[in-house]
Amino acid sequence: MLIRRPPDIPPSEITSESVYQRRRELLKGLAVAVPALLAGCGRGQDAGATTAPAAMPPELPVARRGEYTLPDAQTSWQDATHYNNYYEFGTDKDDPAKHSGRFESQPWTVEVAGQAEVTGRFTLEDILKPHALEERVYRMRCVEAWSMVIPWVGIPLGAVLKRFKPTSDAKYVAFTTVERPAQMPGLSYPVLDWPYREGLRLDEAMHPLTLLAVGLYGRALPNQNGAPLRLVVPWKYGFKGIKSIVRIEFATHQPKTAWNQSAPNEYGFYSNVNPDVNHPRWSQATERRIAGSGGFNLLGNRIATLPFNGYAEQVAALYAGMDLRRNF
Ligand code: MTE
Repeated sequence: MLIRRPPDIPPSEITSESVYQRRRELLKGLAVAVPALLAGCGRGQDAGATTAPAAMPPELPVARRGEYTLPDAQTSWQDATHYNNYYEFGTDKDDPAKHSGRFESQPWTVEVAGQAEVTGRFTLEDILKPHALEERVYRMRCVEAWSMVIPWVGIPLGAVLKRFKPTSDAKYVAFTTVERPAQMPGLSYPVLDWPYREGLRLDEAMHPLTLLAVGLYGRALPNQNGAPLRLVVPWKYGFKGIKSIVRIEFATHQPKTAWNQSAPNEYGFYSNVNPDVNHPRWSQATERRIAGSGGFNLLGNRIATLPFNGYAEQVAALYAGMDLRRNF
């Protein structure tokens, strides 16, 4: 049995023979990465508990390191995994680590939809293969004016998206987070219009810096950081880094995004880090760096924020001719 077509499945959901064969080839190359990735981040890790500390996630087989490094001191594992924004688990910074123990990140599938030749539902294995995992140390700037330096593990999003063959009508990519009220206590509160949604212009999504992350510090993502896969876009404010992605849609029009819908005057679609454009309620000129010898420090480690978070050389051309005050 290869591919049967039940009458109620639309053509877009069906895997063609050639795609199926390619997947089989890709799967062969995946023997190591995915089992290690899945081993410790789902049921059993901390099942049922909301307060017990979770076990350390498993180490990942990182094939490439060192191409993307920074002179900046790195944030500690403890701070990066206990000072989080993941409102589906609560709005306090320590809520995601405390309340994500019940979240099951396996098995995991991602629906790929919209303007692409290959669409349908794909397992995490389908999504990751045949790419080698890379470590990339990125500066991360939260819109709340704090920042971290994190060694992510992932694969370039563009390489993944290319395999779905976006058509010429695809201008944007829309992402959606899983919505599971029984495992995500924060969903009971209408702080955002759930599910969490984000989006990028197609050229931003295809940019080599844009990462589909599956880990950090050489280990699989803990639930509070967006297990099993999340976006990392280092020149944009952190809220563009949508967690626990279950849907990717190639769209013709600019998609709705959770924060932009909630407060359009405060959070734009682009959300490029820009020290010259303040948030209506606070300055974006500086940031509190949570890293280095100071570690977690509410007052110290204040540094100047850089245009595009220090990645201007690589990404400024994407916005040539655009008024970045209007397109904030
Ligand atoms: N994704 C979802 N689904 N829900 C969220 O609340 N918060 C965003 C982003 N992705 C968020 C999310 C914000 S505001 C930030 S700053 C980053 O995740 C934080 O990522 P981190 O906790 O791994 O540092």
